[in-house]
Amino acid sequence: MTTEALLARRFRVMGRHSPLFYDRPIELVRGEGVWVWDRDGRRYLDAYNNVPHVGHCHPRVVEALARQAATLNTHTRYLHEGIIAYAERLTSHFDPALSMVMFTCTGSEANELAIRIVRECSGGMGMIGTEHAYHGNTASVIQLGSLFTPPEKRGPYIRTVPVMDPYRDRGGRTDAALAAAYADEVRKAIDSFSAAGIRFAGLLFCTSFSSEGLPTLPDGFMAKALEHVHDAGGYFIADEVQSGFGRLGSHMWGHEMLGVVPDLVTLGKPMGNGHPLAGVVGRPELIERFASANMYFNTFAGNPVSAAVGSAVLDVLRDERLQENARDVGRHTLQALDHLKTRHEIIGDVRGKGLFFAIDLVQDRQSKRPAGDATKRVVNRMRDRGVLISRVGPGDNVLKIRPPMLFSSEHAGLLVDALDASLSEL
Ligand SMILES: Cc1ncc(COP(=O)(O)O)c(C=O)c1O
Repeated sequence: MTTEALLARRFRVMGRHSPLFYDRPIELVRGEGVWVWDRDGRRYLDAYNNVPHVGHCHPRVVEALARQAATLNTHTRYLHEGIIAYAERLTSHFDPALSMVMFTCTGSEANELAIRIVRECSGGMGMIGTEHAYHGNTASVIQLGSLFTPPEKRGPYIRTVPVMDPYRDRGGRTDAALAAAYADEVRKAIDSFSAAGIRFAGLLFCTSFSSEGLPTLPDGFMAKALEHVHDAGGYFIADEVQSGFGRLGSHMWGHEMLGVVPDLVTLGKPMGNGHPLAGVVGRPELIERFASANMYFNTFAGNPVSAAVGSAVLDVLRDERLQENARDVGRHTLQALDHLKTRHEIIGDVRGKGLFFAIDLVQDRQSKRPAGDATKRVVNRMRDRGVLISRVGPGDNVLKIRPPMLFSSEHAGLLVDALDASLSEL
Protein backbone atom coordinates (compact mmCIF):
# COMPACT_ATOMS: atom_id res chain seq x y z
CA MET A 1 0.00 0.00 0.00
CA THR A 2 1.38 3.42 -0.97
CA THR A 3 1.55 6.37 1.42
CA GLU A 4 -1.14 8.09 -0.69
CA ALA A 5 -3.48 5.11 -0.37
CA LEU A 6 -2.94 4.92 3.38
CA LEU A 7 -3.55 8.66 3.71
CA ALA A 8 -6.79 8.33 1.78
CA ARG A 9 -7.92 5.56 4.17
CA ARG A 10 -6.98 7.70 7.15
CA PHE A 11 -8.85 10.76 5.83
CA ARG A 12 -11.94 8.63 5.24
CA VAL A 13 -12.04 7.11 8.69
CA MET A 14 -10.30 9.77 10.87
CA GLY A 15 -11.13 12.92 8.92
CA ARG A 16 -8.84 15.44 7.23
CA HIS A 17 -8.32 17.59 10.29
CA SER A 18 -6.70 15.09 12.60
CA PRO A 19 -3.17 16.59 12.89
CA LEU A 20 -0.35 14.91 11.03
CA PHE A 21 3.33 15.86 11.01
CA TYR A 22 5.22 16.92 7.86
CA ASP A 23 4.21 17.76 4.29
CA ARG A 24 5.12 14.17 3.44
CA PRO A 25 3.80 12.19 6.43
CA ILE A 26 5.94 9.32 7.68
CA GLU A 27 4.60 5.84 8.32
CA LEU A 28 6.60 4.61 11.28
CA VAL A 29 6.64 0.92 12.06
CA ARG A 30 9.39 0.36 14.64
CA GLY A 31 11.43 2.17 17.26
CA GLU A 32 14.50 1.55 19.39
CA GLY A 33 16.27 4.06 21.64
CA VAL A 34 16.48 7.38 19.77
CA TRP A 35 15.75 5.76 16.40
CA VAL A 36 12.53 5.06 14.52
CA TRP A 37 12.10 3.26 11.19
CA ASP A 38 9.57 3.77 8.44
CA ARG A 39 7.92 1.03 6.41
CA ASP A 40 10.66 1.13 3.77
CA GLY A 41 13.31 0.48 6.40
CA ARG A 42 14.59 4.07 6.46
CA ARG A 43 15.93 5.12 9.84
CA TYR A 44 15.16 8.52 11.43
CA LEU A 45 16.84 10.17 14.39
CA ASP A 46 14.07 11.11 16.80
CA ALA A 47 15.00 14.52 18.12
CA TYR A 48 11.43 15.50 18.95
CA ASN A 49 9.53 12.96 21.01
CA ASN A 50 9.59 13.27 24.77
CA VAL A 51 7.01 10.56 25.37
CA PRO A 52 9.52 7.73 24.78
CA HIS A 53 11.48 9.45 27.53
CA VAL A 54 13.95 6.65 28.28
CA GLY A 55 13.99 5.59 24.63
CA HIS A 56 11.60 3.92 22.23
CA CYS A 57 10.64 0.40 23.35
CA HIS A 58 13.09 0.31 26.25
CA PRO A 59 13.43 -3.41 27.09
CA ARG A 60 13.09 -2.90 30.86
CA VAL A 61 9.87 -0.93 30.44
CA VAL A 62 8.49 -3.42 27.94
CA GLU A 63 9.39 -6.32 30.23
CA ALA A 64 7.77 -4.68 33.29
CA LEU A 65 4.62 -4.00 31.30
CA ALA A 66 4.40 -7.52 29.89
CA ARG A 67 5.12 -9.19 33.24
CA GLN A 68 2.42 -7.25 35.12
CA ALA A 69 -0.08 -7.55 32.24
CA ALA A 70 0.40 -11.32 32.37
CA THR A 71 -0.13 -11.35 36.15
CA LEU A 72 -3.01 -9.02 36.97
CA ASN A 73 -4.55 -5.77 35.84
CA THR A 74 -7.34 -4.22 37.88
CA HIS A 75 -7.76 -0.66 39.14
CA THR A 76 -7.18 1.49 42.20
CA ARG A 77 -10.34 0.41 44.03
CA TYR A 78 -8.48 -2.73 45.05
CA LEU A 79 -5.45 -2.65 47.28
CA HIS A 80 -2.29 -3.34 45.32
CA GLU A 81 1.19 -3.06 46.74
CA GLY A 82 2.73 -2.19 43.37
CA ILE A 83 0.52 0.89 43.00
CA ILE A 84 1.29 2.12 46.51
CA ALA A 85 5.01 1.51 46.12
CA TYR A 86 5.02 3.47 42.87
CA ALA A 87 3.05 6.35 44.45
CA GLU A 88 5.54 6.45 47.34
CA ARG A 89 8.48 6.37 45.00
CA LEU A 90 7.10 9.03 42.69
CA THR A 91 6.25 11.48 45.48
CA SER A 92 9.71 10.96 47.02
CA HIS A 93 11.06 12.91 44.02
CA PHE A 94 9.22 16.06 45.14
CA ASP A 95 9.52 18.64 47.88
CA PRO A 96 8.23 17.03 51.13
CA ALA A 97 5.21 19.39 51.03
CA LEU A 98 4.04 17.62 47.85
CA SER A 99 3.45 14.18 49.27
CA MET A 100 0.23 12.91 47.74
CA VAL A 101 -0.70 11.75 44.25
CA MET A 102 -3.88 11.14 42.24
CA PHE A 103 -3.45 9.16 39.04
CA THR A 104 -4.94 9.98 35.65
CA CYS A 105 -4.38 8.62 32.14
CA THR A 106 -3.46 11.84 30.31
CA GLY A 107 -1.97 15.25 30.91
CA SER A 108 -5.31 16.81 29.99
CA GLU A 109 -7.06 14.83 32.70
CA ALA A 110 -4.34 15.77 35.19
CA ASN A 111 -4.83 19.49 34.47
CA GLU A 112 -8.62 19.10 34.53
CA LEU A 113 -8.40 17.44 37.93
CA ALA A 114 -5.93 20.03 39.25
CA ILE A 115 -8.29 22.83 38.17
CA ARG A 116 -11.17 21.10 39.96
CA ILE A 117 -9.04 20.81 43.10
CA VAL A 118 -8.04 24.48 43.18
CA ARG A 119 -11.59 25.54 42.43
CA GLU A 120 -12.92 23.37 45.25
CA CYS A 121 -10.30 24.58 47.73
CA SER A 122 -10.46 28.28 46.85
CA GLY A 123 -14.21 28.41 46.41
CA GLY A 124 -13.52 30.39 43.23
CA MET A 125 -13.75 29.78 39.49
CA GLY A 126 -11.29 32.28 37.99
CA MET A 127 -8.23 30.69 36.37
CA ILE A 128 -5.22 32.42 34.84
CA GLY A 129 -3.11 30.87 32.10
CA THR A 130 -0.35 32.07 29.80
CA GLU A 131 -0.87 33.42 26.29
CA HIS A 132 -0.03 30.80 23.62
CA ALA A 133 -0.01 27.96 26.15
CA TYR A 134 -1.38 24.45 25.70
CA HIS A 135 -2.45 22.28 28.61
CA GLY A 136 -4.79 19.70 27.11
CA ASN A 137 -8.09 19.01 25.42
CA THR A 138 -10.88 18.72 28.01
CA ALA A 139 -13.69 21.28 28.16
CA SER A 140 -12.14 23.34 30.99
CA VAL A 141 -8.50 22.89 30.09
CA ILE A 142 -8.88 23.87 26.44
CA GLN A 143 -10.24 27.25 27.58
CA LEU A 144 -6.94 27.94 29.30
CA GLY A 145 -4.87 26.84 26.33
CA SER A 146 -4.96 30.05 24.37
CA LEU A 147 -2.70 28.56 21.67
CA PHE A 148 -5.73 26.92 20.05
CA THR A 149 -8.60 28.75 21.73
CA PRO A 150 -9.55 32.26 20.62
CA PRO A 151 -10.68 34.72 23.34
CA GLU A 152 -14.37 34.38 22.43
CA LYS A 153 -14.26 30.65 23.25
CA ARG A 154 -12.59 31.04 26.63
CA GLY A 155 -15.64 31.96 28.68
CA PRO A 156 -15.90 34.29 31.68
CA TYR A 157 -13.65 32.40 34.08
CA ILE A 158 -10.40 32.61 32.13
CA ARG A 159 -7.71 35.29 31.86
CA THR A 160 -4.36 34.98 30.09
CA VAL A 161 -1.13 36.84 30.73
CA PRO A 162 1.96 37.23 28.51
CA VAL A 163 5.06 35.35 29.62
CA MET A 164 7.52 38.22 28.86
CA ASP A 165 10.03 36.47 26.63
CA PRO A 166 13.39 38.17 27.38
CA TYR A 167 14.39 37.80 23.71
CA ARG A 168 11.36 39.61 22.26
CA ASP A 169 9.62 41.45 25.07
CA ARG A 170 12.52 42.87 27.05
CA GLY A 171 12.19 46.40 25.69
CA GLY A 172 15.34 47.57 27.47
CA ARG A 173 14.15 46.32 30.83
CA THR A 174 16.32 44.61 33.43
CA ASP A 175 15.57 41.05 34.57
CA ALA A 176 13.96 42.41 37.73
CA ALA A 177 11.78 44.82 35.75
CA LEU A 178 10.70 42.00 33.45
CA ALA A 179 9.67 39.84 36.42
CA ALA A 180 7.85 42.80 37.95
CA ALA A 181 5.99 43.39 34.69
CA TYR A 182 4.89 39.73 34.61
CA ALA A 183 3.78 39.94 38.25
CA ASP A 184 1.80 43.09 37.41
CA GLU A 185 0.01 41.25 34.61
CA VAL A 186 -0.96 38.49 37.03
CA ARG A 187 -2.12 41.07 39.57
CA LYS A 188 -4.21 42.83 36.87
CA ALA A 189 -5.82 39.54 35.87
CA ILE A 190 -6.71 38.80 39.50
CA ASP A 191 -8.16 42.31 39.86
CA SER A 192 -10.22 41.88 36.72
CA PHE A 193 -11.84 38.80 38.24
CA SER A 194 -12.74 40.82 41.34
CA ALA A 195 -14.14 43.59 39.16
CA ALA A 196 -16.33 41.02 37.39
CA GLY A 197 -17.54 39.55 40.70
CA ILE A 198 -15.64 36.30 40.06
CA ARG A 199 -13.64 34.70 42.85
CA PHE A 200 -10.08 33.82 41.90
CA ALA A 201 -9.05 30.12 41.97
CA GLY A 202 -5.54 29.81 40.59
CA LEU A 203 -2.78 30.10 38.03
CA LEU A 204 -1.71 27.27 35.72
CA PHE A 205 1.57 27.43 33.80
CA CYS A 206 3.95 25.08 32.01
CA THR A 207 7.22 25.28 33.93
CA SER A 208 9.31 25.67 30.77
CA PHE A 209 6.63 27.67 28.90
CA SER A 210 7.29 25.24 26.09
CA SER A 211 4.40 25.95 23.71
CA GLU A 212 5.05 29.63 24.29
CA GLY A 213 8.53 29.19 22.73
CA LEU A 214 10.72 28.08 25.65
CA PRO A 215 11.87 31.54 26.82
CA THR A 216 14.95 31.74 29.04
CA LEU A 217 13.53 33.28 32.18
CA PRO A 218 15.64 35.19 34.68
CA ASP A 219 16.20 33.70 38.15
CA GLY A 220 13.37 34.47 40.53
CA PHE A 221 11.03 35.37 37.65
CA MET A 222 7.92 33.77 39.16
CA ALA A 223 8.34 34.77 42.82
CA LYS A 224 6.34 37.99 42.97
CA ALA A 225 3.57 36.72 40.70
CA LEU A 226 3.09 33.67 42.89
CA GLU A 227 2.96 35.89 45.96
CA HIS A 228 0.04 37.72 44.31
CA VAL A 229 -1.67 34.38 43.64
CA HIS A 230 -1.45 33.28 47.28
CA ASP A 231 -2.31 36.72 48.66
CA ALA A 232 -5.51 36.60 46.62
CA GLY A 233 -6.46 33.20 48.10
CA GLY A 234 -5.54 31.25 44.97
CA TYR A 235 -3.26 28.32 44.24
CA PHE A 236 -0.75 27.61 41.56
CA ILE A 237 -0.46 24.55 39.41
CA ALA A 238 2.85 23.69 37.76
CA ASP A 239 2.36 21.75 34.54
CA GLU A 240 5.35 19.41 34.22
CA VAL A 241 3.88 17.39 31.35
CA GLN A 242 6.66 18.53 29.00
CA SER A 243 9.38 19.66 31.39
CA GLY A 244 9.41 16.94 34.03
CA PHE A 245 11.31 13.76 34.80
CA GLY A 246 14.80 15.23 34.43
CA ARG A 247 14.48 16.61 30.91
CA LEU A 248 15.90 20.00 31.96
CA GLY A 249 19.07 18.31 33.19
CA SER A 250 19.86 20.47 36.19
CA HIS A 251 16.64 19.54 37.98
CA MET A 252 14.11 16.75 38.03
CA TRP A 253 11.26 19.28 37.69
CA GLY A 254 10.91 22.63 35.95
CA HIS A 255 9.41 24.24 39.06
CA GLU A 256 12.62 23.42 40.95
CA MET A 257 14.54 25.23 38.25
CA LEU A 258 12.22 28.20 38.75
CA GLY A 259 12.89 27.99 42.50
CA VAL A 260 9.26 27.55 43.57
CA VAL A 261 7.19 24.92 45.38
CA PRO A 262 3.78 24.68 43.69
CA ASP A 263 0.50 23.74 45.34
CA LEU A 264 -0.15 21.10 42.69
CA VAL A 265 2.00 19.59 39.95
CA THR A 266 0.61 17.89 36.86
CA LEU A 267 2.46 15.09 35.10
CA GLY A 268 2.03 13.11 31.90
CA LYS A 269 3.77 12.29 28.64
CA PRO A 270 7.18 10.87 29.75
CA MET A 271 5.80 9.31 32.93
CA GLY A 272 4.82 6.03 31.24
CA ASN A 273 7.23 6.14 28.27
CA GLY A 274 4.25 5.83 25.91
CA HIS A 275 1.88 3.97 28.22
CA PRO A 276 -1.03 6.27 29.25
CA LEU A 277 0.07 7.27 32.73
CA ALA A 278 -0.32 10.76 34.19
CA GLY A 279 -1.29 12.37 37.47
CA VAL A 280 -1.46 15.20 39.96
CA VAL A 281 1.06 15.43 42.79
CA GLY A 282 0.30 17.96 45.47
CA ARG A 283 -0.17 19.18 48.95
CA PRO A 284 -2.13 16.55 50.88
CA GLU A 285 -4.39 19.13 52.53
CA LEU A 286 -5.68 20.21 49.10
CA ILE A 287 -6.09 16.71 47.70
CA GLU A 288 -7.82 15.43 50.86
CA ARG A 289 -10.16 18.40 50.93
CA PHE A 290 -11.13 17.90 47.30
CA ALA A 291 -11.48 14.12 47.57
CA SER A 292 -13.59 14.27 50.71
CA ALA A 293 -16.14 16.42 48.90
CA ASN A 294 -15.92 14.77 45.44
CA MET A 295 -15.75 11.07 44.70
CA TYR A 296 -12.94 10.82 42.15
CA PHE A 297 -12.32 7.57 40.35
CA ASN A 298 -10.60 6.99 37.04
CA THR A 299 -10.98 3.44 35.76
CA PHE A 300 -7.66 2.97 34.00
CA ALA A 301 -5.53 5.49 35.87
CA GLY A 302 -2.64 4.16 37.92
CA ASN A 303 -3.61 0.53 37.48
CA PRO A 304 -1.10 -2.21 38.37
CA VAL A 305 0.30 -2.36 34.83
CA SER A 306 0.68 1.42 34.70
CA ALA A 307 2.37 1.40 38.10
CA ALA A 308 4.83 -1.27 36.93
CA VAL A 309 5.59 0.80 33.83
CA GLY A 310 6.00 4.04 35.80
CA SER A 311 8.33 2.29 38.22
CA ALA A 312 10.43 0.87 35.39
CA VAL A 313 10.76 4.36 33.89
CA LEU A 314 12.12 5.64 37.22
CA ASP A 315 14.49 2.62 37.40
CA VAL A 316 15.92 3.37 33.96
CA LEU A 317 16.23 7.10 34.66
CA ARG A 318 18.26 6.28 37.76
CA ASP A 319 20.34 3.37 36.48
CA GLU A 320 21.22 4.95 33.15
CA ARG A 321 21.81 8.35 34.79
CA LEU A 322 19.63 10.01 32.19
CA GLN A 323 19.08 13.30 34.00
CA GLU A 324 22.87 13.72 34.18
CA ASN A 325 23.05 12.77 30.51
CA ALA A 326 20.46 15.45 29.69
CA ARG A 327 22.54 17.99 31.60
CA ASP A 328 25.90 17.10 29.98
CA VAL A 329 24.87 16.29 26.42
CA GLY A 330 22.38 19.16 26.59
CA ARG A 331 25.11 21.67 27.43
CA HIS A 332 27.29 20.61 24.49
CA THR A 333 24.38 20.43 22.09
CA LEU A 334 23.26 23.93 23.04
CA GLN A 335 26.75 25.27 22.35
CA ALA A 336 26.86 23.56 18.96
CA LEU A 337 23.39 24.85 18.03
CA ASP A 338 24.33 28.32 19.19
CA HIS A 339 27.41 28.21 16.98
CA LEU A 340 25.10 27.88 13.95
CA LYS A 341 24.15 31.50 14.55
CA THR A 342 27.52 32.51 13.12
CA ARG A 343 26.64 30.74 9.86
CA HIS A 344 22.94 31.50 9.47
CA GLU A 345 21.51 35.03 9.75
CA ILE A 346 18.01 33.59 10.04
CA ILE A 347 18.75 32.32 13.54
CA GLY A 348 17.68 35.04 15.95
CA ASP A 349 18.08 33.20 19.20
CA VAL A 350 19.06 29.75 20.49
CA ARG A 351 17.75 28.73 23.90
CA GLY A 352 17.54 25.56 25.89
CA LYS A 353 17.91 23.67 29.11
CA GLY A 354 18.99 20.06 29.35
CA LEU A 355 17.63 18.17 26.36
CA PHE A 356 15.04 20.79 25.42
CA PHE A 357 16.04 23.32 22.75
CA ALA A 358 14.37 26.16 20.89
CA ILE A 359 15.79 27.92 17.84
CA ASP A 360 13.99 31.14 17.04
CA LEU A 361 14.07 31.88 13.31
CA VAL A 362 13.56 35.51 12.31
CA GLN A 363 13.12 37.50 9.12
CA ASP A 364 15.91 39.78 10.32
CA ARG A 365 17.75 40.08 13.60
CA GLN A 366 16.81 43.72 14.02
CA SER A 367 13.03 43.44 13.84
CA LYS A 368 12.96 39.83 15.14
CA ARG A 369 9.86 39.27 13.02
CA PRO A 370 9.05 35.53 13.08
CA ALA A 371 10.12 33.54 9.99
CA GLY A 372 7.24 31.07 10.19
CA ASP A 373 7.32 29.83 6.57
CA ALA A 374 11.05 29.24 6.60
CA THR A 375 10.72 27.38 9.89
CA LYS A 376 8.18 25.05 8.34
CA ARG A 377 10.54 24.41 5.43
CA VAL A 378 13.38 23.59 7.80
CA VAL A 379 11.25 21.09 9.71
CA ASN A 380 10.35 19.35 6.45
CA ARG A 381 13.93 19.40 5.13
CA MET A 382 15.11 17.87 8.40
CA ARG A 383 12.57 15.12 7.97
CA ASP A 384 13.89 14.49 4.45
CA ARG A 385 17.38 14.26 5.93
CA GLY A 386 16.18 11.70 8.48
CA VAL A 387 15.97 13.88 11.60
CA LEU A 388 12.63 14.48 13.31
CA ILE A 389 11.97 17.88 14.92
CA SER A 390 8.99 20.25 15.03
CA ARG A 391 8.12 23.89 15.65
CA VAL A 392 6.16 25.99 18.17
CA GLY A 393 5.72 29.52 19.40
CA PRO A 394 3.27 32.34 18.79
CA GLY A 395 4.76 32.92 15.31
CA ASP A 396 5.21 29.18 14.58
CA ASN A 397 8.85 30.09 14.04
CA VAL A 398 10.63 28.31 16.85
CA LEU A 399 12.28 24.99 16.02
CA LYS A 400 11.47 22.64 18.86
CA ILE A 401 14.01 19.94 19.64
CA ARG A 402 13.30 17.58 22.51
CA PRO A 403 14.80 14.11 21.99
CA PRO A 404 14.54 11.02 24.17
CA MET A 405 16.80 11.28 27.22
CA LEU A 406 19.49 8.90 26.00
CA PHE A 407 20.48 11.30 23.24
CA SER A 408 24.29 11.25 22.95
CA SER A 409 26.94 13.64 21.64
CA GLU A 410 27.09 11.53 18.50
CA HIS A 411 23.35 11.99 17.95
CA ALA A 412 23.77 15.70 18.64
CA GLY A 413 26.43 15.85 15.90
CA LEU A 414 24.00 14.30 13.39
CA LEU A 415 21.30 16.77 14.43
CA VAL A 416 23.54 19.83 14.12
CA ASP A 417 24.94 18.76 10.72
CA ALA A 418 21.45 18.12 9.35
CA LEU A 419 20.27 21.49 10.65
CA ASP A 420 23.27 23.29 9.20
CA ALA A 421 22.56 21.72 5.80
CA SER A 422 18.81 22.40 5.97
CA LEU A 423 19.35 26.05 6.89
CA SER A 424 21.88 26.40 4.08
CA GLU A 425 19.22 25.36 1.58
CA LEU A 426 16.70 28.06 2.51
C1 LIG B 1 2.33 21.28 28.72
C2 LIG B 1 1.26 20.27 28.38
N1 LIG B 1 0.31 19.99 29.28
C3 LIG B 1 -0.67 19.10 29.04
C4 LIG B 1 -0.74 18.44 27.83
C5 LIG B 1 -1.87 17.46 27.57
O1 LIG B 1 -1.43 16.18 27.69
P1 LIG B 1 -2.23 14.97 26.96
O2 LIG B 1 -2.06 15.15 25.50
O3 LIG B 1 -1.57 13.74 27.53
O4 LIG B 1 -3.64 15.08 27.39
C6 LIG B 1 0.22 18.68 26.86
C7 LIG B 1 0.17 17.97 25.55
O5 LIG B 1 0.77 18.34 24.58
C8 LIG B 1 1.25 19.62 27.14
O6 LIG B 1 2.20 19.90 26.24
